[in-house]
Amino acid sequence: MKSLINGLQDITPGDYETSWSSPSNIAFVKYWGKKGHQLPANPSLSLTLNDCKTTTSVKFSLLDELDVSLNFDGNNDDKFAAKIKNYLLTLQTDLPWIHRLGVEIKTSNTFPHGAGIASSASGLSAFALCLADYIKHLTHGNDQDNFLKKASFLSRLASGSACRSIYGGFTTWGESELLDSSDYYATPLSVHPELVNLCDSILVINSQEKNVSSRAGHGQMGAHTFAEARYTQARDHFNLCVSALKHGDIEAVGKILEAEAFSLHAMMLTSPNPYTLLKPNSLAAIEILHDFRNETGLPVYFTLDAGPNLHLIYPESFKNKVLTFIGHELSSLCENIIYDRNGEGPVKCY
Ligand code: DP6
Repeated sequence: MKSLINGLQDITPGDYETSWSSPSNIAFVKYWGKKGHQLPANPSLSLTLNDCKTTTSVKFSLLDELDVSLNFDGNNDDKFAAKIKNYLLTLQTDLPWIHRLGVEIKTSNTFPHGAGIASSASGLSAFALCLADYIKHLTHGNDQDNFLKKASFLSRLASGSACRSIYGGFTTWGESELLDSSDYYATPLSVHPELVNLCDSILVINSQEKNVSSRAGHGQMGAHTFAEARYTQARDHFNLCVSALKHGDIEAVGKILEAEAFSLHAMMLTSPNPYTLLKPNSLAAIEILHDFRNETGLPVYFTLDAGPNLHLIYPESFKNKVLTFIGHELSSLCENIIYDRNGEGPVKCY
């Protein structure tokens, strides 16, 4: 496929300041394993959240050489700045003027960094939106659909899961036989009205930064004995999940959610350099949730990202009952609980 940011080589960069707030997302069908340059080995599907988000402002200017500074929650963060600089350098074929940019970034999150709450999805989509906005300003573009597609394309190159945060509600990313979706950018997915309003209560079992990054985990899929079987399973889950979401079948969605969480962590446990990110309290919470569901029949299901924290997903109509359950039976296993829900996607702050 042609790059979505070609034809921009001859632009002269100038000064511009912009700010975007972009949410995190929780994958129902997981992206785990890559092909080519930041392309997914299987299609994935996620729900964009509302409250877990990153707000980023960027001042672009014209300098002699690329210079990136980054202030995270009031402190300079050279590691994160170097990550953004490396990302910008990957765009240099399409955007050779990147070499002459001053990029001054101020960013903050509403949730703990590096705790499996996909801070890279919100953080890098917020930055990519600022960059897309800058390109739009330089090219005097005004096509909103194209803007979001470009922002998703640029987000993907920074972090795969970030490309899905560009749209609110449910989003898919990756080619599938079922939908007109792409490996290069995400696409919004409309679902049954009963499944539009879902809650995500995030049980923060452990907020410490994990010691194996998602990037390293994806890397291990290249030599993983079960890689092909996993990609086949993910494609099947993707098709089943799309169909269940369209039909409003929360039980079928919940079954896939939990199977995906277990498969993701099984991949880690069985990778060439095996590891686990689960904690004893992650497993204890899963057991308590299963007992609760068996006793009450309430449609509340868990999923996991690449971390120890459980996301409890349920329709908003069951919120009071689920919150009482969490308060009585699960809160003692958690450091903290974040109550989130489906959101409408990124917002331009100025
Ligand atoms: C487990 O998007 O963080 O959250 O593309 O290397 O930045 P990179 O990986 P990343 O991987 C996310 C993996 C996941 C599943 C998912 O969100 O689909």
